[in-house]
Parts: sequence; C-alpha cells; structure tokens
Amino acid sequence: MADRVRIGIIGAGLVSDFHHVPGINIDPRATLAAVCDPNAELLEQRKSQWGPAKYTTSYEEIAADPEIDAVIIATPNFTHKPIALACIAGGKHVMAEKPLGLSFEEAAEMYRAARDKGVRHMTAFTYRFAPSMLYLKHLLRSGALGTPRHFRSQRFLDLPETSWGWRQYKHLAGAGDLYDMTIHRIDFAQDLLGPITDVCGAVATFAPRTSTPDGKPCEPSDVDDWSAMIGRFASGAVGVWEGSTLMKGHHNEGVGFEWAEINGSEGSAVYQLVDPNHILVGKHGGSMQKVEVPAEFLKPADSPRDPKDGKPSTVFRYDLVWEFVSAIVEGRDAVPGFDHGASAQAVADAVLQSNETRQWVSVTQNLG
Ligand SMILES: NC(=O)c1ccc[n+]([C@@H]2O[C@H](COP(=O)([O-])OP(=O)(O)OC[C@H]3O[C@@H](n4cnc5c(N)ncnc54)[C@H](O)[C@@H]3O)[C@@H](O)[C@H]2O)c1
Repeated sequence: MADRVRIGIIGAGLVSDFHHVPGINIDPRATLAAVCDPNAELLEQRKSQWGPAKYTTSYEEIAADPEIDAVIIATPNFTHKPIALACIAGGKHVMAEKPLGLSFEEAAEMYRAARDKGVRHMTAFTYRFAPSMLYLKHLLRSGALGTPRHFRSQRFLDLPETSWGWRQYKHLAGAGDLYDMTIHRIDFAQDLLGPITDVCGAVATFAPRTSTPDGKPCEPSDVDDWSAMIGRFASGAVGVWEGSTLMKGHHNEGVGFEWAEINGSEGSAVYQLVDPNHILVGKHGGSMQKVEVPAEFLKPADSPRDPKDGKPSTVFRYDLVWEFVSAIVEGRDAVPGFDHGASAQAVADAVLQSNETRQWVSVTQNLG
C-alpha cells in the first residue's frame, strides 16, 4: 500500500458528494485516487469539483487497478452486490452504502465474500456516528438509564411526490422508505439494544409518482412510502419504528424530522438529528432536559475535524470515512461491518414478510 490509502469512489451522485468526498478530503491518511460513474456528464462535473484523480465509467477498471486500495460504493441498490463482489475479488477494502443488497441473502453473500477474502468491509450506517448517538450509547453502557426497556424511532421527510428515480422501483431499490430510511434506525436500535428477534410490520404506498420532476411521464412506483414495525429484542426490550418520505410540513431545509429514544428503568434519553450535539435526558418524576454532548463524543479521538466547523447535522457524516480508513491502517474490523448491514436487512425483510402475511415474523440471521 502507498503512504496514503488510495480510495476509489464508485457512484459519483449525491451521497458521495455530501458524505464521502468531504470525508476523504479531511483525512490526512487517505487520498481520492479514482472516481467511477457511467454518467459521463456527471463525471466531467465531478472532475472540476473534486479535483485530480482517475476518472472512469467502468467499475471493473477500478476493481482491477493495483493503484487503488479501497473503494466506496455509492450506487443504486441493485448494483451494490456485483460491484462489491468484483472489488473484493480484486482485493480492495470495501465500504458500501446501505442497504447492502436487494435482500438479506444478497447482503449475506457480500459479507461472506469480504470475510473469506480477508478485506475490510463496512456498511455506511451514517447515524451511528452522530455525537448524540455515541453519547446515548455511552449512557446506556454506563447504566445511567438502568435496564433498557423500550426504543422508539420516528423519521419523517417531506419529499416531492414526483418520481424518486431508481428508488421507486422494487427491482432497482429492493424497497422504499424501509430500505432507504428505516433500515438505519433498525441498525442503530440493534447497536444500542442488541439483536431484534421478532417483528410485526406494515408498509404502505401513498403516491403513484407517475411523473418526473420536469413533467415527463414514468412508470408508477411499486415501493413503500411509509414503513412501520413493532419489534422484540433478545434482551426482552421492545421497540416501535415509523418512517415516511411523504409527511407534509416536515421538510425543515431537507433535514426532516427525526426522533429516537430509549426508555430504561432509571431514565430516558432522546437523540434528534436536527440537534446532534445535544441529547434530551429525563429521570422519574422530572421533565426532559437538554444536555450538551461532552467533547470526547463530538468526533473520533484523532480526527483533525473541527466539530465546531460546519452544520452539525452534516459534518458527523464525514466520520464514516474516518472509521473505514482507521480500520484499514490499524488492521482491524470496521464497524459497522457487512455483517451489521446484513443483520439490519434481515429485520427489514421480516417487516416485508410480516406485511404480506399479516403475522408476526421471527428474524432469521444465518450469515453462513
Ligand atoms: N448513508 C446514508 O445516509 C445515505 C444517504 C443517501 C444515499 N445513500 C445510499 O447511497 C446510494 C446512492 O444514493 P445517491 O443518493 O447518491 O444516489 P444517486 O442516484 O444520486 O447517485 C448514484 C450514482 O451512481 C451511478 N451509478 C449507477 N450505476 C453505476 C455503476 N454500475 N457504476 C458506477 N456508478 C453507477 C449513477 O450514475 C449515479 O450518479 C444508495 O444505495 C442510497 O441508499 C445512503
């Protein structure tokens, strides 16, 4: 490996621009070595925005390039598995966006391939890196909330009812809000409270989305705009999740509304995406109070990122790259790995099965 981890970005769309390229730019141990996207016009635009690197329309070229150490896959969901398998075969460390695949089976296959090849693997579950989420986890582990009994999460976005592009078709996205938004909340719930064993879920489609933002007709959506579940954790705790992309008035400059809380035998704590440098905490008989997240939870210990620099609900997202590069240079597993990505997908798939059968479903998570 060169003196810096040479990273190839595969998929030069929104999330690469928002999370991953800024994450690489502030990490002195990493460099943007290559960018891949089949959209040649976008590639030209990124060349002027992101600066010097190899620019290509072929991910196979990146997978075979000996001058690339690691890749970040940020493409439509149906392409994650073939791209990841090619890059793993080429010996690259891989961070892939969520959902890892179009089903638990695909995600488990990606996990096995990375494990068997011995490369680092990571699922881009962004919200694990919010300072308030890290502090909430610390409070739980320290026993400050007592025995955790209950988890609740709500994620509402106010997106337009025009076409959602590849995201609105099952064969390209796997599912709608469930795979796009609620899957993050399944992941951090399991990170906080341990594995989910049983779910009762429901999904609904609110809008047909039969025209593009510039007024052209398109095939109707066949995925969910709303997903919800109640679930049981192996620990005995219970949880309630709800998410939707079509909740009017929750736009909030694109941040939307997010609330997640843990209620324990001694106290409760709340994470909110709009204010990730604070949490709310409460004790029996009192009211919820706003508490500042202590400095040691605002960023990874050795990261040069200034936590006071930039919009709080944006800048913690850069820590995904910090974790990925740390795992590579320290020779340890990245967290969350593909196993965590597959696990969240097993729960999400149980929600779809429960919706179909109108029954509780036991979550099976055999990674093979
Ligand atoms: N972790 C998060 O918080 C978060 C946020 C947003 C999106 N995502 C995930 O990131 C992924 C991308 O989302 P987005 O919003 O950036 O989508 P996007 O549509 O803006 O960008 C995807 C890009 O991938 C390119 N692409 C398509 N096929 C490709 C291929 N074979 N090789 C290389 N590039 C290819 C497209 O041309 C496009 O430019 C999705 O899986 C999504 O679920 C995660």
